[in-house]
Amino acid sequence: MSPEELRRKIEYFKDLGVKELYRREAVAVAPAAEAVAATVAPVELPSLAPAGDTLIQIGQDIGECTRCGLHKGRNKIVFGDGNPEAQLVFVGEGPGADEDAQGIPFVGRAGQLLTQMIEGTAKKEGIPLTRADVYICNVVKCRPPENRTPEPDEMQICGQFLFRQLQVIRPKAICALGSTAAKALLGGRDGVTKLRGKWHKWNDIPLIVTYHPSYLLRAYNVEAKREAWEDLKKALHFVYD
Ligand code: URA
Repeated sequence: MSPEELRRKIEYFKDLGVKELYRREAVAVAPAAEAVAATVAPVELPSLAPAGDTLIQIGQDIGECTRCGLHKGRNKIVFGDGNPEAQLVFVGEGPGADEDAQGIPFVGRAGQLLTQMIEGTAKKEGIPLTRADVYICNVVKCRPPENRTPEPDEMQICGQFLFRQLQVIRPKAICALGSTAAKALLGGRDGVTKLRGKWHKWNDIPLIVTYHPSYLLRAYNVEAKREAWEDLKKALHFVYD
């Protein structure tokens, strides 16, 4: 890769919000490129050119990933599910036990609630839409132990693949489920309560934040449930009207 290509690649990922880049294996860096690379440390480059990127390519690049500690406990990498040309993409936090076993995001209890919410709200609003029409993925693709929140380095490493997924799909809107997804996509420290219900942007794509379905499963969250349905309604009308 020429120094100019290297510089462009680094700029591209910086624009996407990636603060650190990693390289899977050592490659010889030309002296001129070294100076450029030194501006983003530690420099470890994703192995594929963003131009002509595809979901298949991203999956191949993830491969049998061992880039962070989460791989140690995983059964299956949970890449994403749904329509690769979806107009609406939901982003969760990371796989749970059911997702880790099946390799499909949001198939456990929280996932069933999410599916119900998408399909139920769409039906009520007269929008012909099923789960298969949207795309669903997570910030991290491997299950964190005991379903803990992903660590910043895990989010940073895996987030690069999420960003690429979103860039390839380029939906009309993104719905971030919970504060981990919101933080990964918007940066900042604000939680869902502060961010929800309003439109934000990720790389020029309108993004709405709402509660994570796992949170809504807790019995006392009646008000949050109502708010989540409102958020979803807003997203569905924006995308499909
Ligand atoms: N919770 C998530 O954030 N993602 C899943 O895929 C399942 C549960």
